[in-house]
Amino acid sequence: MSRSSLRTTVAAALGVAGTAVGALAAHDLTQKRHTILRIYPVIGHMRYLLEGLRPELQQYFIERNWDGRPFDRDIRSIVYQRAKGIHGEQAFGTERDVDAAGYEYLVHSIHPAPQPESVPRVQIGGPDCARPYSMALLNVSAMSFGALSANAVRALNQGAQRGGFAQDTGEGSLTPYHEEMGGDLIWELGTGYFGARTEDGRLDEDIFRDKATKDQVKCISVKLSQGAKPGIGGVLPAPKVSAEIAEIRGVPAGEKCVSPASHTMFDTPVGLIEFLVRLRELSGGKPVGIKLCVGSKVEVLSLCKAMLEVGTAPDFIIVDGSEGGTGAAPLEFEDHMGMPLTQGLMTMHNALVGTGLRDRIRLGASGKVAAGNDIVKRIIQGADFTNSARAMMMAIGCIQAQRCHTGHCPTGVTTQDPYRQRGLVVEDKSVRVTQYQQGTVAEAVKLMAAMGVSSPSELRPWMLRRNLSQTANASYAELYEWLEPEQLLTDPPEDWAAAWAAASAQSFRTHH
Ligand SMILES: Cc1cc2nc3c(=O)[nH]c(=O)nc-3n(C[C@H](O)[C@H](O)[C@H](O)COP(=O)(O)O)c2cc1C
Ligand code: SF4
Repeated sequence: MSRSSLRTTVAAALGVAGTAVGALAAHDLTQKRHTILRIYPVIGHMRYLLEGLRPELQQYFIERNWDGRPFDRDIRSIVYQRAKGIHGEQAFGTERDVDAAGYEYLVHSIHPAPQPESVPRVQIGGPDCARPYSMALLNVSAMSFGALSANAVRALNQGAQRGGFAQDTGEGSLTPYHEEMGGDLIWELGTGYFGARTEDGRLDEDIFRDKATKDQVKCISVKLSQGAKPGIGGVLPAPKVSAEIAEIRGVPAGEKCVSPASHTMFDTPVGLIEFLVRLRELSGGKPVGIKLCVGSKVEVLSLCKAMLEVGTAPDFIIVDGSEGGTGAAPLEFEDHMGMPLTQGLMTMHNALVGTGLRDRIRLGASGKVAAGNDIVKRIIQGADFTNSARAMMMAIGCIQAQRCHTGHCPTGVTTQDPYRQRGLVVEDKSVRVTQYQQGTVAEAVKLMAAMGVSSPSELRPWMLRRNLSQTANASYAELYEWLEPEQLLTDPPEDWAAAWAAASAQSFRTHH
């Protein structure tokens, strides 16, 4: 190109750019939606650009190893490393402030126990269950197809199949993607009864029976609430309700899919237990359970009274903490509603012990379980097994960009966009799920051995200690009240007496 024609081209380009900037400035000055742009035309767009990049800037340049949220960099790194089969050892020592109030540590033994020859598992299924299930210590927590992409569901299920653990379907129903890989499933029924609903939104028993009796379905879980949004039903934002999802769930495509806040199949604690009995019959005697974020002690005790009255109990109860994750929820609910896992789990555990029901029910715990110490801590607080949602998402590539509700997940985990999903290669990521679960459980087992116990059943509340201040610390045995078997039936302690008296098997609406 000659010099003069180059000059002409550059001048033309500058002219076009100038016109575009002028048009943008005119648009910004006259539009009425954005104050910033009316006052700072053109350059005001920088604010929106930087606002959009804020999570990445924060994560890449500002966040320190221990203060990222919801999961800090150390935890994310350990999940990624375990998922890749890297051992995940750290050099040089802890970066945590071990003197700070709130810091917790496990109590080791001078005489560690030998490691067990096989990895411990938990038998699920009380006396009324005909088909008990042997559950792993760590499983894939409930996440629906819809919130998750098809490839994410496949990778998680294949990982579970290879590693001998279970995947919870989430309330979005059992789908072909769950069944394709053959991994063990916990089928979750939420308030929408998706996948087994009648036209008016109640449970269709025939459809339920057909699916629940499939061999791959190992347990049935009725979702009462979720820690990130207790008291409201599931929400699948409109951009994610594809034609396929709409068909699977039996709802209109392209519209926000909201399941009701309450169940329609029961409205009392006794009604709930009777509903579980019916589901157990329809499924051919499989373990049935509930998942909830604990709200009040009275409600928990009302459930216990209902179990005693009906004469049967759920085979398992999963307690979800308010710190738990979600595909989409209002911030007010995420931040300000429901019991954190520690309180919720100990409330449920003690209520079941105090009513003499604990032996027949297995307790699951979910809420930021990501590393081996989380498993051990939750077992000490009353759990028998744990579930993880977001750490499992990280194992298949999630980078905590927190755009799950937009349909634009950059890693193909929580999107229905075929192009983005393509990035998630099922064979590769499923291996990571297996390796992450196995590596994490192996660390939990190692921690228990270092604590001098050779089985989770030997863990005790005194083995977990908490700093109360810079100078004081106490064990969980000292900090909390641990009820004796059947104590609520004979002599309720002061802290429980009022709630016990107020609880009713006939109503959830009991206040005291
Ligand atoms: C993307 C996503 C979708 C979820 N969908 C469901 C669901 O359908 N049903 C449910 O009971 N919980 C659902 N959850 C909650 C998880 O099962 C779990 O209870 C919670 O995230 C706590 O675990 P975490 O801290 O390991 O993520 C979802 C969580 C995420 C992150
Ligand atoms: S990468 Fe971001 S948008 Fe995708 S699943 Fe993870 S947090 Fe959600």
